[in-house]
Amino acid sequence: MAAPVVDAEYLKEIDKARRDLRALISSKNCAPIMLRLAWHDAGTYDVKTKTGGPNGSIRLEEEYSHGSNAGLKIAIDLLEPVKAKHPKITYADLYQLAGVVAVEVTGGPTIDFVPGRKDSSQCPEEGRLPDAKKGVSHLREVFYRMGLSDKDIVALSGGHTLGRAHPERTGFEGAWTKDPLHFDNTYYVELLEGDKEGRLKLPTDKALLEDPIFRRFVELYAKDEDAFFKDYAESHKKLSELGFTPP
Ligand code: HEM
Repeated sequence: MAAPVVDAEYLKEIDKARRDLRALISSKNCAPIMLRLAWHDAGTYDVKTKTGGPNGSIRLEEEYSHGSNAGLKIAIDLLEPVKAKHPKITYADLYQLAGVVAVEVTGGPTIDFVPGRKDSSQCPEEGRLPDAKKGVSHLREVFYRMGLSDKDIVALSGGHTLGRAHPERTGFEGAWTKDPLHFDNTYYVELLEGDKEGRLKLPTDKALLEDPIFRRFVELYAKDEDAFFKDYAESHKKLSELGFTPP
């Protein structure tokens, strides 16, 4: 599909959609699932074949029915009225904007958002997103395939400061932090504190403590929230622009 023309009118629609998203996300308390939707649309990118990535393809049943996307149809449906109100805006832009707004309205860093992503109807094959039951080398394999770095892996894992796992969707249960609707650095603080009654730690979260390079970032982000916010905002922008050359 063609890239949208990012003219003054498109930018105005983006501004209006941003306001609608703030209202929607605050009223429905759905920041976590919006962030997860943005990540799962983007995180299929393959830097070698230049396929997948933030192209809105997760809106199609073929992709949202992948096992790793369980539950995300809820977020897709919540965004349909915003799309209907601003039909010019591509799904690809809308989903990434929703991810940026989700972080912002829950108290996280401001993430620079550049519009102009194309929609695609080409769904990547199943299995490109990380498997929560695996460890260090799997995380590197998957994120390096996207073209991301060790720092990106640890900073982006901090997205788990928001939300929870739902046993009926993924078989995991519980939240990573005490306040899953507040974006802060407690994911790393909790990770270093170890297993605790009622708190979730996926094998891929624990893997961040096992590797010395990963662990150094975990320790930094646990003690310095400003460093986390700065790196998170950069890594999130990279994730949201995989395969995208701003117009
Ligand atoms: C939730 C896996 C990285 C954001 C989850 C869940 C799993 C998971 C199993 C539970 C889903 C459910 O049961 O509803 C992983 C793995 C990752 C990873 C293996 C590899 C590093 C990320 C990244 C972000 C992110 C990079 C965003 C920057 C979220 C959010 C939720 C979530 C916000 C909560 C969703 C909700 O409350 O509905 N993740 N994730 N995750 N993930 Fe991740």
